[in-house]
Amino acid sequence: MGTKIEGIGIYLPEKVLTNFDLEKMVDTSDDWITTRTGIKERRIAQEESVVDMAVKAAEEAIENAGIKKEEIEAVILATLTPHLGFPATACLVQKRLGLPPSAMAFDISAACSGFLYGLDIADAYLKSGKKKTVLVIGAEKLSSIIDWKDRSTCVLFGDGAGAAVLRYDPSSESDILSSKLYTKGSAWNILYRELCGYLKMEGRKVFKEAVTSMAEASQEALREAGLSAEDVDWVIPHQANFRIIKALAEKLSIPLEKVYVNVNRYGNTSAASIPIALYEALKEGKLQRGDIVLLTAMGGGLTWGATVLRF
Ligand code: ACO
Repeated sequence: MGTKIEGIGIYLPEKVLTNFDLEKMVDTSDDWITTRTGIKERRIAQEESVVDMAVKAAEEAIENAGIKKEEIEAVILATLTPHLGFPATACLVQKRLGLPPSAMAFDISAACSGFLYGLDIADAYLKSGKKKTVLVIGAEKLSSIIDWKDRSTCVLFGDGAGAAVLRYDPSSESDILSSKLYTKGSAWNILYRELCGYLKMEGRKVFKEAVTSMAEASQEALREAGLSAEDVDWVIPHQANFRIIKALAEKLSIPLEKVYVNVNRYGNTSAASIPIALYEALKEGKLQRGDIVLLTAMGGGLTWGATVLRF
């Protein structure tokens, strides 16, 4: 059954915050940040709201998909930085895109795994025949929930958005070969934010959970797709930390040359990180149509998962 990823779009704020800028804000150094995370700079929204970023990414995805926006029957937006308490950020995006009421819109809260959760929900709608065209967005204004005096978290995150148009095509094979998603609510308190508070994290615990959970989910998703690690052309992991990505590649026995990395330029953009990386890998001509692509993410919840695409 044919779920196709027809178009991807992204938005990144222009304002760049480098490690050297951070050296002037907290007791840190470019060397510490680079060695521990691989991050050199990140983008920070200025005037842009999370809605503005989501709309820009969505508009580009719609244009790249070559569809009329009126064809969209659902807007699924993943974020941990919603614009309002309610309604959902997806409703504000639906309004700004000028979509009709038949385009139902809702948010999902699955932190850094949000885009993979969104893809899975969209795929289920499409496969069931309930929808033909679904827009999935990951959009984050993490700079708004960071304590800029806390060096242990403020160096890690950035802002941005990514979106994809998914369509059902009964005459072709699905782009989504498998999807395995998990949640461990018992570990919610190693990565969370209280209402109106700042993001809190136990870095070392998150690091360990991230490597193990993404590796296991990846193996499960590959198994479900009837594939093995050798079949993977590209891994597009959630971009949290280069050391996590490297350890994941080692666990999967996949060479780093097959792993797309842009965490150095954008830091961790949570739900936006996978669509941004997917878009850039395509744009740079690395990813080719027909490639086997492994997406994997882990985040607050804890939530994690992996999706295998034949792109
Ligand atoms: N600059 C300088 N020193 C720092 C900084 C900083 N920005 N941050 C912490 N330190 C200090 C600590 O205070 C500590 O000092 P001490 O030894 O005097 O107590 C020392 O550096 C070591 O701190 P650790 O936390 O043990 O350092 P670690 O090697 O674990 O690296 C890091 C910290 C980078 C946060 C790592 O644990 C990590 O990446 N964890 C995963 C976190 C993550 O990616 N979260 C994102 C959300 S979840 C996800 O997306 C998967």
